[in-house]
Amino acid sequence: MSIKFPPISGKLPVFMHGADYNPDQWQHRPDVLEEDIRLMKLANCNVMAVGIFAWAALEPEEGRFEFGWLDDVLDRFADNGIYAWLATPTGARPTWMSEKYPEVLRVSANRVRNLHGMRHNHCYTSPVYREKTTIMNAKLAERYANHPAVVGWHISNEYGGECHCGYCQDAFREWLRLKYGTLEALNHAWWTSFWAHTYTSWSQVESPSPHGENMVHGQNLDWRRFVSDQTIDFLRHEIMPLRAFNLELPTTANLMDLFDGIDYRKLADAIDVISWDAYPTWHNESDDSKTAAWFSFNHDLFRSLKRKPFMLMESTPSLTNWQPVSKLKRPGMHRLSSLQAVAHGSDTVQYFQWRKSRGSSEKFHGAVVDHVGHEHTRVFRDVAELGETLAGLTEVLGTPANARVGIVFDWDNRWAVRDAQGPRNMGIGYENTVVQHYRAFWSLGISCDIIGSEDDFGQYDLIVAPMLYLLREETGQRLERWVEAGGTLVSTYWSGIVDENDLCHLGGFPGPLRKTLGIWAEEIEGLPAHDRNGLVYEAGNTLGFSGTHEVHEICELIHSEGAEVLAVYADDFYAGRPALTVNELGAGRAFYLAARVMDDAFYQEMYEGITALAGVSPSIDTVLPHGVTLQTRTDGEFDYVFVLNFSGSPQQVRLDGAGYTDMEDGAIVAEPAIELPLHGVRILKRTARGVKK
Ligand code: GLA
Ligand code: ZN
Repeated sequence: MSIKFPPISGKLPVFMHGADYNPDQWQHRPDVLEEDIRLMKLANCNVMAVGIFAWAALEPEEGRFEFGWLDDVLDRFADNGIYAWLATPTGARPTWMSEKYPEVLRVSANRVRNLHGMRHNHCYTSPVYREKTTIMNAKLAERYANHPAVVGWHISNEYGGECHCGYCQDAFREWLRLKYGTLEALNHAWWTSFWAHTYTSWSQVESPSPHGENMVHGQNLDWRRFVSDQTIDFLRHEIMPLRAFNLELPTTANLMDLFDGIDYRKLADAIDVISWDAYPTWHNESDDSKTAAWFSFNHDLFRSLKRKPFMLMESTPSLTNWQPVSKLKRPGMHRLSSLQAVAHGSDTVQYFQWRKSRGSSEKFHGAVVDHVGHEHTRVFRDVAELGETLAGLTEVLGTPANARVGIVFDWDNRWAVRDAQGPRNMGIGYENTVVQHYRAFWSLGISCDIIGSEDDFGQYDLIVAPMLYLLREETGQRLERWVEAGGTLVSTYWSGIVDENDLCHLGGFPGPLRKTLGIWAEEIEGLPAHDRNGLVYEAGNTLGFSGTHEVHEICELIHSEGAEVLAVYADDFYAGRPALTVNELGAGRAFYLAARVMDDAFYQEMYEGITALAGVSPSIDTVLPHGVTLQTRTDGEFDYVFVLNFSGSPQQVRLDGAGYTDMEDGAIVAEPAIELPLHGVRILKRTARGVKK
């Protein structure tokens, strides 16, 4: 039985390949627009994201709309087999609008209103901005929702930021009123009795400010949630008029790697397909594996938001122009990093941008077509070749991943843990910690989903939840039941500390997980940069490991309450006390790592042991060279195993038997091992090894 998802658009049931396209910048050069079509075909591009910042071209003055140029572009596309993600232009507003309606401009946390300029500089609450958006989006939908070239809606651009204007203050108070009902409930949840911060009327409540309130953790957390909800509300507001003319057309919004400002898990419900913008800085370190793992983590996160294929909406065909230093992609890297996205579940490879703009702040940002204007460039050839490769992979389209490991990564938790004012305020390192755990799986070639603590755990054999500082009582109970039923849980220091209101759990940490983990965390300390401790494996421990690993930054002092002590601290007054434990509970077990271990090798070894216990294995039963990883997509009948080499040198990977076909040349892989050139990637097909329901 096939478990494939349908293509993102039935109009284009192949891998989408293309770029952001800004014909609005070239209206005075019809010859350039004509030439673009020829070049798009040559580059094996079949899709463009059009009109992302085109408001001034679409509505040059209030109420006067100009669609002729866009008609021409889309008609030409339709005639030439090129498709469009049509954008709503709300990522930047025209100057006349800021001039006539200053309320559309954002107010900063210091309560000063911004001037016109930049992009993404508008208030998501402003009634005028919402009204103008509705008018514009309705006109676009009326005209183009059924255009043959249009495959979907690209809603705005990289939503983010916050506004502290009067409208936003009122909306925040309304949001709080709905959430808490009474001021009494709000005061309790925010623990405002501290420092006499008790609110006695709703009108006293404001957004946090550097020169005002910023110490009430519950208030800060609710503000973050409000900003996120309000942005998502604006997104829904944008989509409403689009739906009126064609219910079928999918919507997407381009997201950003580990973006902090919006709870993407909530945003995911508002759109049909997830897309995101990936800009790795390749070749900055001796090997690219850390960079690659960071981006793999993000690909997995974006796939997991809807547990279905996503889109790589932007990536650069060569370099960016906004990173501290911009290196060119070495030969092979364009193919490798593009196929990395596909390996993790992307059904598109798209770029920013099609053609370099001639002026302004992105004129040196990489593009498929450079200022020279022709196709005889290295970058153009790379793009065209990738288009050919993608065309040969159509059977992979729509196939899901088959991860049996879930790594928990929560926005609520990010916001709360960073605001904690606890043992380490010079960087609590939540994101880096989660990714360090993830890197172990990346190195072992084991696929992971990146999930939220409120998601269903049922489909996983192993759940890793590092630093789950904000832990709801209910999540603790669900994890306990899931472990009892046979799951393997890995938790770490600084978990189960506060509830959803940022109020500490009383009665001993890690709060709702204390019984599951079989430990009590009594104290925690932060270590200054130069301080070290050690984690020493106990003789005869269940994992069978030995040796000492360096520990830094955070050490928690825990007591076993029934858990087996696998390793202890090496130094200081707490030498000999537990640093790594495992607790058997029902048919499952729960590990607890009390300290932050420095080296990746520790995590890799630990997870090799833990995955073996949990019955989770890599896609190919082999030992991978450093910097090489595996990612697998499957339709239930065939597995597509991507072998990706980020090591910075040629590598060999031993296979675990026969039955592999190379997807690109169709040849049966005869050798016991495959060769991977520098920055190489091979895509292997085999009979599926079983999908877990
Ligand atoms: C973002 C934006 C694009 C462009 C690129 C440049 O992803 O969405 O409009 O500015 O960055 O890398
Ligand atoms: Zn506002």
